[in-house]
Amino acid sequence: MDSILVRGNGPLSGQVPIAGAKNACLTLMPATLLSEEPLTLTNAPRLSDIKTMTELLQSLGAEISTLQDGKVIAMSSHSMDNHIADYEIVRKMRASNLVLGPMLARLGKAVVSLPGGCAIGARPMDLHIEGMEALGAVVELRDGYLHANAPIGGLKGGVYNMRFASVGATENFVMAASLAKGTSILKNAAREPEIVDLVSCLKKMGAQIEGEGTSEITIQGVDRLGSATHEVVTDRIELGTYMLAPVIAGGEVECLGGRLSLVKAFSEKLDAAGVDVSETERGLLVRRRGDRVKAVDVVTQPFPGFPTDLQAQMMAALTTAAGVSVLEEKIFENRFMHAPELMRMGAQIDVHGGTATVTGVETLKGAPVMATDLRASVSLILAALAAEGETLVKRVYHLDRGYERVEDKLSQIGAHIERVQE
Ligand code: EPZ
Repeated sequence: MDSILVRGNGPLSGQVPIAGAKNACLTLMPATLLSEEPLTLTNAPRLSDIKTMTELLQSLGAEISTLQDGKVIAMSSHSMDNHIADYEIVRKMRASNLVLGPMLARLGKAVVSLPGGCAIGARPMDLHIEGMEALGAVVELRDGYLHANAPIGGLKGGVYNMRFASVGATENFVMAASLAKGTSILKNAAREPEIVDLVSCLKKMGAQIEGEGTSEITIQGVDRLGSATHEVVTDRIELGTYMLAPVIAGGEVECLGGRLSLVKAFSEKLDAAGVDVSETERGLLVRRRGDRVKAVDVVTQPFPGFPTDLQAQMMAALTTAAGVSVLEEKIFENRFMHAPELMRMGAQIDVHGGTATVTGVETLKGAPVMATDLRASVSLILAALAAEGETLVKRVYHLDRGYERVEDKLSQIGAHIERVQE
């Protein structure tokens, strides 16, 4: 099992290339099930979650090949011959549930294992199910699997007013409605850039959709979708993660591919904390203004609010801020598991329910710590960049789900970091 060893070091400098978005790629890949013609993705990230999605789609009969060291994914579900998404694969990655809408729309039926909870929460599927029912499907839960069937003649356009702006439920609804008969309207839709990217790809395939990026999306169903080649949007969560490296360790770093529009709320919070973020031709240039960031309060919200996927990383930066910061996690019920690990490094954090109060200390001290989920694991690495001494982050398989070779990217800007076998 791999671990990552980090030795606290001085200021960083240089450039970090930001990859294509994991959470865009994980919804773009199932879109291949909507069409009998090829779908090719470029700028795809090289991550274990992408390998898991590949395995799932191949189990449904899709043909998938990768080129350019995994950056290009060529897919065709022409010979799709299975409509059962098996527990053994789905349990590894919740995003497997994004085959529900496409399978139901293409085949009129889908059997998808419930993903089960994960470290950050129970993560139910009720909004996904309600969305499919709004399109005329009958969905039953039996022995841990969702059994969904479209009406005779296929899905029908419908209106769904979603209780909460769920990202995945929005993606399943939009993909299914693309092939439904008639017009569908999704109210209180999620507005994340990954959804805008999915719709951009679906339109290239011939879908008729408008309102993406707003809270009301209208879809005019079409009889069939064609082929497309689509470039995956830049990963705003990887971007925000690497923007925090110079914030924590000092120095100046340019994140290649970054654009302010992808991280507006996050950048505004960094500005309040005393960090300069400026757009260059090639990306975003980040530099901490003083020796320490200022304490700031954070509340996670659906896009365009502060992203929950950057909460753990921001907490790492605030552990050495001047002052007291309050972080409220409004999206998931258990997303502070990085706090006890940061406290092993000397951070002062008080967690009560969905609120964490961080009292800034001068500096952290390296220690052995445990990664618990994807974003928590990278927050520990960020904290270690400026900690005194060595930090060993264990269970980094979580990390490899969402970050391409973190140790390479951070070494290139001056961090003392290496992957060690344990
Ligand atoms: C997506 O998950 C992302 N994953 C998550 O990123 C991200 O944290 C999340 O959106 C919020 O931005 C992918 O895109 C693959 P949700 P998703 O449905 O779609 C509740 C990462 O680190 N809910 O918006 O599963 C749910 O329990 C991952 O890259 C229901 O109650 O998120 C949660 O509390 C982690 N019923 C909240 O909504 C439902 O039917 C947000 O979930 C669905 C969701």
